[in-house]
Amino acid sequence: MKNMVLRMFKKQKDFDLKRLKKAVPGDFFYYDTTSSTNVEAKNKSNIKDKSVFLAREQLSGRGRLGRSWNSNAGDGIFMSIVLVPDIPASTISTLTLLSGLAVSRVLEGSRVKWPNDVLFNDKKVSGILTEMVMIDNNPDRIIVGIGVNVGNKSFPCELLDKATSLYLETGKIYDKTDIIIKILNEFFSMYDIFLKDGVSALRGELKEKCVTLGKTVVVERSGEKIVARAVDITDNGELLIEKDGEKIALASGEVSVRGLLGYN
Ligand code: BTN
Repeated sequence: MKNMVLRMFKKQKDFDLKRLKKAVPGDFFYYDTTSSTNVEAKNKSNIKDKSVFLAREQLSGRGRLGRSWNSNAGDGIFMSIVLVPDIPASTISTLTLLSGLAVSRVLEGSRVKWPNDVLFNDKKVSGILTEMVMIDNNPDRIIVGIGVNVGNKSFPCELLDKATSLYLETGKIYDKTDIIIKILNEFFSMYDIFLKDGVSALRGELKEKCVTLGKTVVVERSGEKIVARAVDITDNGELLIEKDGEKIALASGEVSVRGLLGYN
C-alpha cells in the first residue's frame, strides 16, 4: 500500500495525465516504463490520427541511425505522435522539420539543425525520430518520436560536448506537462497549416531558426561525402546546398555542420 501511494505520487509529480489527455486530439497512451514509445506506437494497430504515446522512462530509447537515446526516468520527455495522414511517404522528412520547429518555438532561444535536432548554445537539447509504418506496401501511419532533455544534470562522457538539457542551460526545474502541452499545441497547429498550404507558410520562420544556413556542411549521399555550403530552405522544406556553383536540394539525410556537435 505504502509503495502504491509513493508510486502514484511519483507519477503525478512527473506528469499531469488528466491535463495531457485533454490536450491530445486522438488517443493518449502513458507508460511508466517501456522500451520505446516509437515501438509502442508501431505495435498498436487501429490508432486514431493525432494520438500520443508518452513514457516516463524508456529502456531502449531509439535515436537516428541506430543510435540510442538517453531515456532515464524523470530526466526528459519521451513521446511519439501518431499521424494517419493521406499524404505521400516523401513528407516524412517535412514532418520531422515541423516537429523540430514546434519544439524550438516552445524552448525559447533554441534553434533547429536541419532536419531533426533542436539546439541550445550549439548543443542538442531535443531530437526527432520520424518513422513510417507500412501495411501491404502502403503507408499506414507516421510516427514522430520526440525526445527532449529537460532535467538531466549530466550526460555520459561521449555526449558532454554535444548534449545539453533545459536544466543545464537555465538552472531551472521545468514542469514537463506544460512543455508537452505547448509542444503538442504548436505541432498540431503547424500540422494543420502544412496540410492546407504546405511548408511554404512556415519557410520564413524555418530559415530564421535554422542554425545550418550559411554554414559549411558535410552531407552523406549514396556512400559519398559532399562538403558544401548550406544556402537556403526551399518551399518544400528541403535544404539547398551549394557546391562549385551547383545547387542541390536535399529532402532528407545526414548533414553534419562544421563547428557543431563535435564536427570540426
Ligand atoms: C535523434 O536525435 O537521434 C532522435 C532521438 C529521438 C528520441 C525519441 S524519445 C521518444 C521516441 N522514442 C524513441 O525510442 N525515440 C524517440
